[in-house]
Amino acid sequence: MTTLTVMPVSAPDLNAPDFERWLAGTEPEWFLEYLSPGPEARARHLMGRFAGALAWPTGRAFLCSEGDRVLGAIALERMAWDSAHFGIECGRIATCCIAQGLSVERRRALHAELLRDALRWADEQKIRLLQRRLLASRVDETQCLGEAGFRLADSMVMMLAPLAIVAPVCGPDPRLAFRAARADDLPALLAMTRGAFPHSRFVQDPILKVSRGDEVYQRWIENLLLNQHTDKTPAGTKEEVMVCALGGAVAGYAAYRTDRALDALLGRRLGMLDLIVVDKAHRGQGIGRALLDRVMEAMRKDGIGEVEATTWTDQREALALYRRAGLQEKETLLTYHLWMNG
Ligand SMILES: CC(C)(COP(=O)(O)OP(=O)(O)OC[C@H]1O[C@@H](n2cnc3c(N)ncnc32)[C@H](O)[C@@H]1OP(=O)(O)O)[C@@H](O)C(=O)NCCC(=O)NCCS
Repeated sequence: MTTLTVMPVSAPDLNAPDFERWLAGTEPEWFLEYLSPGPEARARHLMGRFAGALAWPTGRAFLCSEGDRVLGAIALERMAWDSAHFGIECGRIATCCIAQGLSVERRRALHAELLRDALRWADEQKIRLLQRRLLASRVDETQCLGEAGFRLADSMVMMLAPLAIVAPVCGPDPRLAFRAARADDLPALLAMTRGAFPHSRFVQDPILKVSRGDEVYQRWIENLLLNQHTDKTPAGTKEEVMVCALGGAVAGYAAYRTDRALDALLGRRLGMLDLIVVDKAHRGQGIGRALLDRVMEAMRKDGIGEVEATTWTDQREALALYRRAGLQEKETLLTYHLWMNG
């Protein structure tokens, strides 16, 4: 039997070098673990998760210990954007770190304990929808989430390719013209984004209103388009939106991002494809592939070494597009939802 003690922690407590050292040796938790970040990079990323949660008055972090040995830590935060968009209080388990080398039984006991604190916090904050996104490899935690009533809301795959080995397959297509997106492209981009992501948790959740869920991606591209190259984009982050025009009308777009701080942590340069959408009327004619080729070409010119793309396990066309372009599945991410305080 284990005797676990849980203590709330403040931002200054977390700044102790001991905590950062402890984080460096915890079980895989960061979504980009497959890029083999060093222990210091892992610790710094995870510290950022805790600091991010505690930067808000409603955020909380807890440590779970046995004697004087820390075995687990959890960070909890309200999701301001989601709460405002859906008109219901949304929160999430921002990160949950556990020590390496524990037996299955102890891992389960630890997760159950940390989850109890998460539920207590969510109750106090009157959270209606509590979310946890985690690596599919976290099977003990997944089991605890299920026992606590969480339900799987979506499943995503993260894919990666080194740009050096990915050559464009499409020759130039004289019908297609590529350029940076402009603010006046917005109505066309919104129209083709509507209904384009039916497997996302926002649309799949049986309680969230489907129309509001579908709008999430419309707001995403709208914000990207209106905020790119402005001071609303975080320092060191570059967001680009490229459109493909066919006969003068926009037929598809791709949004991609680079992040200097992330590159510095990983010690390599990563280009992230955020969204790629082709208008339904023009699918299956090579436009998606041509856009992806252009994006990868732009990344290569920018000195980027690898391209990363994420999509849903059931988004078959996107998976096929990425695989054909040479990207390989690296990680599966699961998102769980718990409805509470109804
Ligand atoms: C994914 C998407 C961008 C593909 O665009 P597209 O212009 O239709 O794709 P292309 O015609 O260039 O096809 C490229 C490759 O994708 C695959 N593909 C595209 N549509 C497919 C389908 N319906 N079934 C199976 N494979 C498909 C094929 O492998 C194809 O290569 P091939 O023609 O050499 O066999 C488009 O389906 C779309 O907008 N989907 C909704 C949004 C989305 O899922 N975005 C990706 C996640 S952000």
